Amino acid sequence: MNTQHNTILVLGGTGKTGRRVVERLRARGLPVRVGSRAGTPPFDWEDRSTWAPALDGVGSVYLSYFPDVAVPGAVEAVGAFAALAVRSGAPRIALLSGRGEPEAERAEQAVRDTAADLTVLRSSWFMQNFSEDYMLEHVLSGEIRLPAGDVPTPFLDIDDLADVAVAALTDDRHVGRLYELTGPQSLTFADAAAAIAAAAGRPVRYVPVTLEQHAAELQEHGVPAEVVELLTYLFDEVVDARNAATTDGVREALGREPHDFAAYAAAAAATGAWNVVLSAGR
Ligand SMILES: NC(=O)c1ccc[n+]([C@@H]2O[C@H](COP(=O)([O-])OP(=O)(O)OC[C@H]3O[C@@H](n4cnc5c(N)ncnc54)[C@H](OP(=O)(O)O)[C@@H]3O)[C@@H](O)[C@H]2O)c1
Repeated sequence: MNTQHNTILVLGGTGKTGRRVVERLRARGLPVRVGSRAGTPPFDWEDRSTWAPALDGVGSVYLSYFPDVAVPGAVEAVGAFAALAVRSGAPRIALLSGRGEPEAERAEQAVRDTAADLTVLRSSWFMQNFSEDYMLEHVLSGEIRLPAGDVPTPFLDIDDLADVAVAALTDDRHVGRLYELTGPQSLTFADAAAAIAAAAGRPVRYVPVTLEQHAAELQEHGVPAEVVELLTYLFDEVVDARNAATTDGVREALGREPHDFAAYAAAAAATGAWNVVLSAGR
């Protein structure tokens, strides 16, 4: 057993946010372990026997749950993992949470109850969902068909989130803080589609659909029932006027402004993510 406890464990370390956290920590020369099923040792939320080996020699954790803190069982798993982390010498936890999700706040409380040295990253809808996750296919099809109405959303650039996570994992001033993280402006999905079209140089428009239409279209594309349920919950609960306001969480944590959507769209376009041509249908 390694008793030094200087390694930083990044759960979901090959995913959208975790990959960015890993890159930043490695660039600083800090010892990092990728927590994923493909990691060494492997870490699997579904197999608790993998948790203790992944925590060996670890002093702090970037805790992102997969697939979402809102799914059944997430609160219990996140709380149990955090308790084990604290017991095994890793009290410092930066928890990725979701803004406007009651389940996410329950997960935050479960970690707080372990007496971890906790920083909560309560994050708004990610900009990168349009280029690195399920909304990419919508963009490539030219139609973002989602049940988001015309509610403005303060999309967050996850490069900002990763910067805050690294600060939380490396600087004691962030212990005990709860950061509500958003971008600098609230955009409707129609605004976002227009910004993506301009940056990508391809036609992209937003087509509002009902929650029921959206669920039916996902089912037609063979999306598993639990994912349909999760997306329906998120669009119903999170894309809501209650969550439309921007916050100054990024500035509070980092002393600088968050990136805006146009900057994100230019950076995503430069990666070629939106250059793909779909062959048939979606
Ligand atoms: N998307 C949003 O707009 C948004 C907003 C706020 C909060 N969030 C929160 O963000 C979190 C997801 O973070 P993310 O987007 O960075 O991750 P992500 O890209 O969705 O996750 C992929 C990562 O999870 C790992 N993974 C998959 N299945 C796993 C399992 N059974 N056990 C352990 N690891 C597993 C993958 O590696 P392997 O395949 O190698 O295991 C990979 O590293 C969720 O908790 C969600 O609630 C999302």
